[in-house]
Amino acid sequence: MTPLLAARGLGKAYARAGWRRGAPRTVLSGIDLAIGEGECVALIGRSGSGKSTLARLLMGLEDPDGGAVLFRGAPLAGLDRGGAKIFRAAVQMVLQDPLSAVNPRHGVGRILAEPLRHLTDLTAAARQARISDVLDAVGLDPDAADRLPGQLSGGQVQRIGLARALATRPALVILDEAVSNLDAPRQVDLLDRLASLRRQDGTAFLLITHDIRLARRFADRVVVLSEGRIVDSSACRPGLALSHPAARELLDAVLPAAPGGL
Ligand SMILES: Nc1ncnc2c1ncn2[C@@H]1O[C@H](COP(=O)(O)OP(=O)(O)OP(=O)(O)O)[C@@H](O)[C@H]1O
Ligand SMILES: [Mg+2]
Repeated sequence: MTPLLAARGLGKAYARAGWRRGAPRTVLSGIDLAIGEGECVALIGRSGSGKSTLARLLMGLEDPDGGAVLFRGAPLAGLDRGGAKIFRAAVQMVLQDPLSAVNPRHGVGRILAEPLRHLTDLTAAARQARISDVLDAVGLDPDAADRLPGQLSGGQVQRIGLARALATRPALVILDEAVSNLDAPRQVDLLDRLASLRRQDGTAFLLITHDIRLARRFADRVVVLSEGRIVDSSACRPGLALSHPAARELLDAVLPAAPGGL
């Protein structure tokens, strides 16, 4: 079956700044990754391994230097306006600081309505109904729509970011450390809500995280990125089978349970 989103031999290099100008620095090379409809893949790797860069390429926010991103088999680079609009509604991303780019004077309702106005043909009334639905899906009261971003807690901001990404009923949501700012119970609560959304709507997820426990709890499959390459991968059930040193490092970083059950 054609994957929902795939990377084929993806590579990316950035020009060096300052006195080290010269050959660009390779950040990603030879990335092959396929995400199926409804599948949940966790992308793990230490800081600087290239996770966010890969996410930006998958979203079409930056162009690769080699290889291609395929949306349901079609290269992103070849999509026409209509195709690009369908892609943007179908593949959404949530960042760690999801409201950093929004106008702080716009209320939450307006922030949530924005992707619906740009990417769907919903009427104003249908947009309002959809906004109530997504607020409910992420565990927020409908009256959150009347607030300004500055009047929300960090955890509420992350939920709003998620609600915004879910508004267009995407086929895939990329979560780039999008639950990292929450305390553990709230992370679990949010991921459980996303898991039920997956069962209900068949939404696929790419969960980018340092936290292998979150990955194991939520994903079907874990892929390990190290220095811009995919070095290991494993199904999550029955148990992770990862052997590359970069994966072991992340596994070993998980603190053992405190003695005495603390
Ligand atoms: N626009 C850019 N220009 C130059 N270098 C960049 C750019 N974006 C990222 N890099 C470099 O690419 C490498 C990978 O960065 P990236 O943000 O993808 O890592 P990451 O795995 O998401 O890290 P983290 O877990 O800390 O978020 C880093 O060395 C970073 O400095
Ligand atoms: Mg990152």
